[in-house]
Amino acid sequence: MKKLYIKTYGCQMNVYDSEKMATLLAPLGYGLTETPGEADVAILNTCHIREKAEQKVFSDLGRLNMVKKEREEGGKDTIIAVGGCVAQAEGEEIIKQAPYVNMVFGPQTYHRLPEMLAQLLRSKGQDLRIVDTDFPVESKFDHLIQPEHSNVSAFLTIQEGCDKFCTFCCVPYTRGAESSRPVDAILKEAEHLVRVGAKEITLLGQNVNAYHGSMNGKEWGLGRLLYALAEISGLERIRYTTSHPRDMDDALILAHKEIPQLMPFLHLPVQSGSDRILEAMNRKHKVDFYIDIINRLRDVRPDIAFSSDFIVGFPGETEADHAQTLELVEKVNYAQAYSFKYSIRPGTPAGIHEWQVPEEIKDRRLQELQTLLFQQQKAFNTSFVGQVIPVLFDREGRHEGQLMGRSPFMQSVYVAASERHLGAIAHVKIDKATQNSISGAIDTTESVLSPANTFAEAKSKAV
Ligand code: 5AD
Ligand code: SF4
Repeated sequence: MKKLYIKTYGCQMNVYDSEKMATLLAPLGYGLTETPGEADVAILNTCHIREKAEQKVFSDLGRLNMVKKEREEGGKDTIIAVGGCVAQAEGEEIIKQAPYVNMVFGPQTYHRLPEMLAQLLRSKGQDLRIVDTDFPVESKFDHLIQPEHSNVSAFLTIQEGCDKFCTFCCVPYTRGAESSRPVDAILKEAEHLVRVGAKEITLLGQNVNAYHGSMNGKEWGLGRLLYALAEISGLERIRYTTSHPRDMDDALILAHKEIPQLMPFLHLPVQSGSDRILEAMNRKHKVDFYIDIINRLRDVRPDIAFSSDFIVGFPGETEADHAQTLELVEKVNYAQAYSFKYSIRPGTPAGIHEWQVPEEIKDRRLQELQTLLFQQQKAFNTSFVGQVIPVLFDREGRHEGQLMGRSPFMQSVYVAASERHLGAIAHVKIDKATQNSISGAIDTTESVLSPANTFAEAKSKAV
């Protein structure tokens, strides 16, 4: 069997895309390997969101080239491909910088992989290079193959691209304009995933709650879609990510009250706690608007926990702006969050802003923000000690005899338990919490607190 190595960078949409690439190439006789040295085809599925992620791609490419040379000495060919958002943004430039790369393709053209690969194999010795960074009229989704097995926790892309044009962000350029898959296609894919093993589905989209798919000539928003997904028997948990505050409409908020399978955890990036910076970021909402959404969600689902993305050191950010971000974090009380130093992305409006914040100020602000966020994360985790919560076990833990799973609130949960629990939801009594995870033992009494009681504190802290 020929071997395929795929390294995935960045967001969950890339994870979904990488899985689809593997499924597309399986009928051509490619099985996955985790060792680049074994790979006949090596794909880097890349991320362009911050400069660091991009630099990593080029250093990994250098390493892959060494592997390619070593394999060549053993008489073996290696096809090196760059897919994803760096490929989309840089196109031909990648081959100029790294001439040993054979194939460059964007996030919207990887359904053509089998064709591109066949072309390369046919051209053996002709030194062919393929670059395909189209935004094709046909949808890649119509060409994707459904997998024969699914992880118990599966991803399903329902929407792609973004029309919001936040001034710091390259996504509208790399992933293209916002587009939603039809309801039918999503329901079919979800049913299939459940049939082949999924119990949890995370709906994905760069702007997932801007979803507006068609169903019998009508337009459905994400809220409506969630109710239809909740009808699928065997689908025990539903999540969606990433959302924009402006697209949290009433139907979607109500869905959090009415759909028990919808997990009480929402990633709702705010980026900054300063109205001035939000405006400069073109986020199209103010801080109060965001807080109002948080409050409304807590009203309908008191135990809901939040996570967010933050950018520190956006051009023009002052100490007062930064202090307002810290204030917002205090008010919301996050279960978890991601925070980044602003990084200039070529071609974005903020990149040419005259007042870039010096690196050492960004470092300090990031540290202050993260200190607060980590405290909150630890307090959130600690609030579960003594509680019994349902955990979906989706993988083995780091240690022998240990399993890892997810709580309804996306916490990593470690338990010493037999493998028979893998792929199942079991009740776990939590006895220990750290900043990054919680742990405990399977609760054999099966007495489970209603999730609504597990983080009642969140309600009392409501802003
Ligand atoms: N610099 C730093 N962080 C960024 N993000 C997006 N673009 C940039 C940038 N230029 C962050 C945002 C976004 C997350 C996916 O990445 O916080 O929500
Ligand atoms: Fe980027 Fe803003 Fe679109 Fe999110 S909403 S993908 S941050 S442009």
